[in-house]
Amino acid sequence: MAVFPQLRLRRLRRKEALRALVRETDIKVSNLIYPLFVVEGRGIRQEIESMPGIFRLSPDLLPPEVEEIAKLGIPAVLLFGIPQQKDEAASAAYHPEGIIPQAIKAIKHAVPELLVVTDVCLCEYTSHGHCGVVVDGEVDNDRTLPILAKTALAHAEAGADIVAPSDMMDGRVKAIREALDEKKFQHIPILAYAAKYASAFYGPFREAAGSTPQFGDRRSYQLDPTNVREALREVEQDINEGADMVMVKPALAYLDVIRRVRDSFNYPLAAYNVSGEYAMVKAAARQGWLDEKKIVMEILTAIKRAGADIILTYHAKDVSRWLNQ
Ligand code: PBG
Repeated sequence: MAVFPQLRLRRLRRKEALRALVRETDIKVSNLIYPLFVVEGRGIRQEIESMPGIFRLSPDLLPPEVEEIAKLGIPAVLLFGIPQQKDEAASAAYHPEGIIPQAIKAIKHAVPELLVVTDVCLCEYTSHGHCGVVVDGEVDNDRTLPILAKTALAHAEAGADIVAPSDMMDGRVKAIREALDEKKFQHIPILAYAAKYASAFYGPFREAAGSTPQFGDRRSYQLDPTNVREALREVEQDINEGADMVMVKPALAYLDVIRRVRDSFNYPLAAYNVSGEYAMVKAAARQGWLDEKKIVMEILTAIKRAGADIILTYHAKDVSRWLNQ
């Protein structure tokens, strides 16, 4: 076995072409999904304060946005809807002409080939901001399931390509799969937010979507950040219920979870580089404290190296520009 001085690991690092030749991890634009916040109304383009460069857009302003996204080579967007009306039953979530169906139609009209993934959850639609219906002060799992199923179906009927439940109710993947199959949407895949933690990294998102719980928090349904075995059980449950792809969320503080899921299941794995992760990078870059481009590429590389196939990230447009340069 060669040892120093015959063995020199630096030999393969001398030139960029050599480094590229032995590179183990690559970020590809074709694996990125760009989240979009769509708001009911017309002519609305509001920047989210804690997420510089990210806007709430009304459906009429989506066409130029999605044309740009498609031109950059990004294959998919993930939609979050902000309705005009919220109520206890989240009725705007499954309205056939609700904000998400409106957005899907606008996008499909402008760029039919762009994949549209929809976030299926009730927190943006309930007056109390929880991800399910509340009965006697608690989020009621089983009563939430049919509402989630109706919501996913409304998205599929409007033309969604993939539905992505993020509510963390038990049994939601099964309920959604059954509802879709019954209406001849057997071909629509489910990307399950399978291991979703109760995380403070969602702070800026909740400002963006107006979905902060009005009482309590989400710890009775989202995973405890201390647990990884339980995350594997969540992933197993969603796969058993019919998930086609699974997700770990957030990404950066959960790289070990991504690796464990990658090693345990042979399903496409997505990781969500969430709003708080984006906000931290943006804030430090604005101060001149970090090199934004290098930091973002290093973060996304780490998420890929941990085992993610797909990355959902607010940096997707910037990354595509950098990679296309
Ligand atoms: C909705 C949902 C959330 C996020 C994605 N879907 C917020 C939450 O669970 O509170 C967070 C995304 C982000 O922070 O970028 N349930």
